[in-house]
Amino acid sequence: MKIQDRTFIISGGASGLGKSSAIEIIKAGGYVSVLDLSDEEDGKQLEKELGPSAKFFHCNVTETESIAKAVQGTVDWVKQTGKPLGGVIPGAGIGLPAAILNCKGQALNMDDVDFVLSVNFRGVIDLVRQAAVHIAKVDPEGPDGERGVVILVSSSSAFDGQYGQVAYAATKGAVASMALPMSRDLAAWGIRVVAIAPSLFNTNLTAGMSDRVRKAIEDTFVFPNRAGNPPDFSILVKHIIENPMLNGAVIRLDGASRLSKL
Ligand SMILES: NC(=O)c1ccc[n+]([C@@H]2O[C@H](COP(=O)([O-])OP(=O)(O)OC[C@H]3O[C@@H](n4cnc5c(N)ncnc54)[C@H](O)[C@@H]3O)[C@@H](O)[C@H]2O)c1
Repeated sequence: MKIQDRTFIISGGASGLGKSSAIEIIKAGGYVSVLDLSDEEDGKQLEKELGPSAKFFHCNVTETESIAKAVQGTVDWVKQTGKPLGGVIPGAGIGLPAAILNCKGQALNMDDVDFVLSVNFRGVIDLVRQAAVHIAKVDPEGPDGERGVVILVSSSSAFDGQYGQVAYAATKGAVASMALPMSRDLAAWGIRVVAIAPSLFNTNLTAGMSDRVRKAIEDTFVFPNRAGNPPDFSILVKHIIENPMLNGAVIRLDGASRLSKL
């Protein structure tokens, strides 16, 4: 599918992998609707930084109404720009590391579990389902009749989760598991679904990691022997949008890294 003159909704687009995807899409002539927790002032600043092809909407993906407002805002913006929706990247995600039983023998806090689930799992499905209603109404494009692409953000912890990642790994495993059934559900509407499963990437999410943990994870990268940087992620986003044969897949983006137990 062509990126040029299409609009992509990106949750978590104010930072890290989401922001880099926004930059890549704009570079390719596309438009982005950034949904994030930032306040209006930071949102305006982000719009200034990304330029006129970007629009910010304050959104908390744990709240259905908040998503509905941001999606409607995007639909109204699209009417003004005349650049139809082309896809959604539900990238908003949080870490919240905690073991099922910590070193003091205390059990995992269920409020923490619910919180990770509400952002990384419920928030993903909720945004995709609300955006898909509108993507399904776009005029089909090209010989395949494509209308749009959903790019899910899983994690290598979906497959080899580390100590303290029970809840996070479970949400990312759920996201990986969604790719195929979601692609089957949306095929009739000309919408593809692909999940990316990155290993360690240098973003705000991982900035607080201790040097010891970072080094241990980086050592698991076979080649190149380093953590990923956001542009390594966003060039894959661009390719997924453009390659019609990518559908229902989970793509590991990890330099052949397999996370150790730590
Ligand atoms: N960085 C990594 O190593 C890595 C590895 C694998 C997967 N991921 C996944 O990539 C995605 C992006 O993470 P990142 O590394 O760019 O992190 P990041 O912290 O730089 O960006 C995440 C963004 O999501 C937003 N966000 C969080 N909760 C939200 C909510 N309730 N509603 C709306 N927005 C919300 C944050 O404000 C932030 O802007 C996440 O889903 C993360 O789990 C990251």
